[in-house]
Amino acid sequence: WTATRDKSCKLPMPKGSMGFPIIGETCHWFFQGAGFHASRRQKYGNVFKTHLLGRPLIRVTGAENVRKVLMGEHSLVTVDWPQSTSTLLGPNSLANSIGDIHRKRRKIFAKVFSHEALETYLPKIQQVIQETLRVWSSNPDPINVYQESQRLSFHMAVRVLLGFRVSEEEMHCLFSTFQDFVENVFSLPIDLPFSGYRKGIRARDSLQKSIEKAIREKPLHTQGKDYTDALDVLLESAKENNTELTMQELKESTIELIFAAFATTASASTSLIMQLLRHPAVLEKLREELRSCGLLHDGCLCQGELRLDSIISLKYLDCVIKEVLRLFAPVSGGYRIATQTFELDGVQVPKGWSVMYSIRDTHDTSAVFKDVEAFDPDRFSPERGEDREGRFHYLPFGGGVRSCLGKQLATLFLKLLAVELAGGSRFELATRTFPRLISVPVVHPTDGLRVKFFGLD
Ligand code: HEM
Repeated sequence: WTATRDKSCKLPMPKGSMGFPIIGETCHWFFQGAGFHASRRQKYGNVFKTHLLGRPLIRVTGAENVRKVLMGEHSLVTVDWPQSTSTLLGPNSLANSIGDIHRKRRKIFAKVFSHEALETYLPKIQQVIQETLRVWSSNPDPINVYQESQRLSFHMAVRVLLGFRVSEEEMHCLFSTFQDFVENVFSLPIDLPFSGYRKGIRARDSLQKSIEKAIREKPLHTQGKDYTDALDVLLESAKENNTELTMQELKESTIELIFAAFATTASASTSLIMQLLRHPAVLEKLREELRSCGLLHDGCLCQGELRLDSIISLKYLDCVIKEVLRLFAPVSGGYRIATQTFELDGVQVPKGWSVMYSIRDTHDTSAVFKDVEAFDPDRFSPERGEDREGRFHYLPFGGGVRSCLGKQLATLFLKLLAVELAGGSRFELATRTFPRLISVPVVHPTDGLRVKFFGLD
């Protein structure tokens, strides 16, 4: 690694260790998980240097520091994923786009997550969740919740978002290839036989082939506003913006959407189920809210069609999902590169250095949250509103021009899952104690979280 300080700047470099040549501190990071950043933050402060995944990096924690990085997009920093992520997602992905191209692509994508589009996805998401919970409940053995939540979010993305009609066998194959892809998206960029990077490239090529076949065979419904899935909306939105998406762009966008939705939503779903198990009073309060809105009657969810507005109006449900995402933020942070030398917390961030802003550490160390480690959904209630203290203390979906595009969809999915769990399922922890959590690549329990689902009698 060759990145050095900017000698024209008087400010000191951030403190920290660069580890070993080439691999830096990558191995420490993999083995220590969340503890890696926490231990270095305690030792070196909110802005420290390290060396991960083949490059030097400045890691940034704290609302004010994160605000400066996120709001400095285009002026101080620009996007900069690790090389493996960048190559595997492809040049047409949002993640790899900058400036006007990013703005244009985001505008096309925005329609995919509009209120109107979400309303059309809602019944299908609900159906996928209900089918999944039925399968979980009919299994005499406990479910590995994390593993099955990954399958659930993958099904949601493939069937609901992309509208692919694939057989069970094809779905199984796609899922396993996709797992290979995800496992190697963050790998050392060493292209050798058997390296993670090579495995990721092979998985990407195979996915692109299957997706091209599915797109070509897919009936398209781009007439009027009768959307059936996000791919239809995407194509229509592109047309409205006078853009024709090429097959390569469609394939990369498709993989990016599934990638963005997959691990994040599975992680949050697992954390939600774990917190409902840990806190029966919260589950009961959710049921009470469903009863008071007429959605739960005699212990059964009312079968009538749920509307987006009725889900949005459930205030306690909103607090529960927000609190799950605060305490167990699936994404630990985002990568940028400094386009000019700038000051942060009294030290210099030299031009050309990678910067990673931290979400989880920022939540964990924020002074605006009382009893920061407690699971307390009411902190987000209108009376307490702890998140009102400042936008950048609470950022599970990032912030600024690159904030999560799928935020509303992810929230809707989690709310629908919570409604089904509170209204239509009985479930118990199948182990004596709750599993330990690890945070790489997203927060998840070490043994997957074993839970027995019973459904309703
Ligand atoms: C970006 C979190 C679900 C699509 C992001 C970012 C975060 C995030 C933190 C910003 C990363 C950065 O600053 O570099 C989450 C969480 C989710 C979730 C916690 C679930 C609980 C989804 C879903 C989709 C999605 C379901 C779409 C189907 C995207 C896209 C971007 C993004 C396309 C890139 C935006 C851009 O670069 O302009 N997400 N996400 N996310 N997310 Fe999500």
